[in-house]
Amino acid sequence: MLQIGLARVERAASVPVSSRTDRLMARIALVIVAGGLVYGFYSLGGPVWWRVYATVIHPYQDAVHPNQQAPVAVTKLPVVEGGSGTNTAAGGTSGGAIAEPKVEPKEEPRVEPKEEPRVVEPKVEVKPSPSPSPSPSPKEFNPDGYPLTRERVLPLLQDGLIMITWANHHYLDFAKTWVHNLKKSGVSGYMVGAMDDDMLRDLVQLDINTWRMNTGITKRDLGWGSQNFHLMGRFKIKLIRDVLALDVTVVVSDIDTAWLKNPIPYFHRYPDADILTSTDQLSPTVHDDSLEKFPEAGSAFNIGIMLFRPNSKGFVEEWVKTLDDPKMWDQTAFNDLARKGHGHSQAPKNLWRGYEGKLTVGVLPCALFASGHTFFVQHKYAELGLEPYVAHATFQYSGTPGKRHRFREEMLFEDPPEYYDHPNGFVAIDMDIPQALLDRAAQPVEGPMTADKLGDHFALVHHQLFRLRAAVGVAVMMGRVLVLPPIWCQLDKYWAPLYNGNIPGTAWKKPFICPADHVLDLEGGWYPNRPDFGPHLQYREHSFFNNPRMNKAVNASRVTVHVCKQGEADCSSGVAPAPVKDGVVRVAPQLNSDQLSKALEGVQGFKIITLRNAVDAFKEFSDPEKQRQFVNRLNHYASVFCCLANNPGWIWYDFFADRPHNDRFGREFGAQWAPKHGDTRMDVAGYVPPAPLPGVSRRRGLLDALAMVGSSDDVAAAAVAQRDQGVVALAAGGRGAEAEAELEQLQAVGLPRRLQGEREKLREVRFLSSMELNAMFSAP
Ligand SMILES: *[C@@H]1O[C@H](CO)[C@@H](O)[C@H](O)[C@H]1NC(C)=O
Repeated sequence: MLQIGLARVERAASVPVSSRTDRLMARIALVIVAGGLVYGFYSLGGPVWWRVYATVIHPYQDAVHPNQQAPVAVTKLPVVEGGSGTNTAAGGTSGGAIAEPKVEPKEEPRVEPKEEPRVVEPKVEVKPSPSPSPSPSPKEFNPDGYPLTRERVLPLLQDGLIMITWANHHYLDFAKTWVHNLKKSGVSGYMVGAMDDDMLRDLVQLDINTWRMNTGITKRDLGWGSQNFHLMGRFKIKLIRDVLALDVTVVVSDIDTAWLKNPIPYFHRYPDADILTSTDQLSPTVHDDSLEKFPEAGSAFNIGIMLFRPNSKGFVEEWVKTLDDPKMWDQTAFNDLARKGHGHSQAPKNLWRGYEGKLTVGVLPCALFASGHTFFVQHKYAELGLEPYVAHATFQYSGTPGKRHRFREEMLFEDPPEYYDHPNGFVAIDMDIPQALLDRAAQPVEGPMTADKLGDHFALVHHQLFRLRAAVGVAVMMGRVLVLPPIWCQLDKYWAPLYNGNIPGTAWKKPFICPADHVLDLEGGWYPNRPDFGPHLQYREHSFFNNPRMNKAVNASRVTVHVCKQGEADCSSGVAPAPVKDGVVRVAPQLNSDQLSKALEGVQGFKIITLRNAVDAFKEFSDPEKQRQFVNRLNHYASVFCCLANNPGWIWYDFFADRPHNDRFGREFGAQWAPKHGDTRMDVAGYVPPAPLPGVSRRRGLLDALAMVGSSDDVAAAAVAQRDQGVVALAAGGRGAEAEAELEQLQAVGLPRRLQGEREKLREVRFLSSMELNAMFSAP
């Protein structure tokens, strides 16, 4: 185990290798870190290992029960999740956790968030989960009263079928959402397996059909990466076996799915099918609601959504047996077994014989039994004019918070009424995007993902981030909740090189509203409570105000903060409160926090303030310490674009790309932002900055720059002037032999770290099974 740990550290160390000395220093640092770890393991034993595992190797903060947190703050190491299905993805439908190299070595030890802030009130202490000792419940609650038996299941069957999922107490909100969506779509024949007794009690109280899972796993043991946890992937399969033993047809779907339409009539269209499975296929082979053609739809079957009829008992039995091999990943095992000696799908039903011809199998249509990409990114069902059945929050980049946020963006998450109000109110952005930026991003990107194709996408995204930056400032200053804008993108995001700007083989209309986790680090940056950022900032999804659950009174309490252009009359400069006229207050641009809070005194009674011309809404915090925290916060809020064809293929989005600054890694950026490879100091060769936008006059540019940058006026102004004159600098065009050597070395070590073990797979363009990101209850 130690070797594994060390190997990980070694693989993980970020190596902005620029000189021999640096390399030497890097090695020394490695030895020190490794030594520290060894000592840590030695002195504190098992708990620390699991803590490290849960924080570093599998950092789903909200999956870690507070009880099991070791009393030490663990310095995050720059580990990128092992995405290789072969080594780490031992169980479940997951290949890994996050796609981004989000953690940097230079960070101070960070205080882990206690629990996820599920409750909306800022002052309300997040209620820790009850301790394992059984707490008295209002009803007489006997956990033994909820076994999985024929007597309990048969009455629940709906048209002969039962839909099941399972979860531990930590995912109660997902479970409620799962049930809520099912019921809404007309399914009453469901059950939720309770993995611990807290969960069981709460489900019983909520009147949710449940049974007690004899996992033999105590809640305390259920940290991500614990040994028991490692077995979870197996439980799912055993679970299917146990339900099948009752001679019923079972539909099993992971807890991170949202059902949108009753699928039972659909399943009854295929009474001959012994197994129906969802797929990681990202481009449909059919254009109606038929089953996918097989083997044309050749991507990995995704075991997050499956139907089994009793005839498949033997298959499941063998599947369970295959998993005695601890290295076998349950999804791989399923794929191997089902495809053994498979036939071809037969029109008109597109069913085929699998498992050596012993079973009839069908692949559910990928647009309608949708993955996180076909649903949240491509919206393929809409393109085909069809109604989707279910969305699975896979292909997602911000862990569990990211999954939750995706459902929220699509208004599929069941949040309590408190979520739609807040004592301090909300800050929103009236986002202004020049048509030219959108038009350019509508242009097709063709071929391998090279640096010259990045300009329009980054210009578009950064344009929006500058506005978001100001809104973050205002929200933090006023203690309000930030409502994120929809973020428009041209390029997709993946954990392997893009092609045509998309995951290879996919296509949809551009630009598109990308899920927030494409651009923002909702798990590592936005989610935790970090004192070094200043007060915790709550945020909401872009569809928040459109959600029918939105509180009507809150939604009606609105004022617009019009941020004046330079030189516009009638704007408060922060000496006195700005008057509210016809629902609008006018404030001068680029006020600091003292001035702005004075100017906005008159709007405090409004629940929602919307920033118009948001980019100039906030200059800086007047208190230098708060300003430092603000910059630190934003430096951690951005996520990465991924991936270029050249390695390392990711590039950090940057909230400060419009000015000279140092980023979270201490890397210097000049007035003209240009991308750097991964976490290194190497410029991405061949990057072409976007041409200036039409209508942006040079004078305006200069003024903006002057207003914005304070002490760095000259540099920024010069840069703006240069850009406005259309001077295009090639970032790293002719850097010569030294750079070449550097690049070569980087490429040797420099695959996105999670992919290092996957070089061959990368070549074969066979990422999906190992990359699939549903990690709800899957062993890492
Ligand atoms: C909330 O208000 C906005 C702006 O007036 C409106 O567009 C939206 O439909 C409202 N939402 C609901 C749920 O009524």
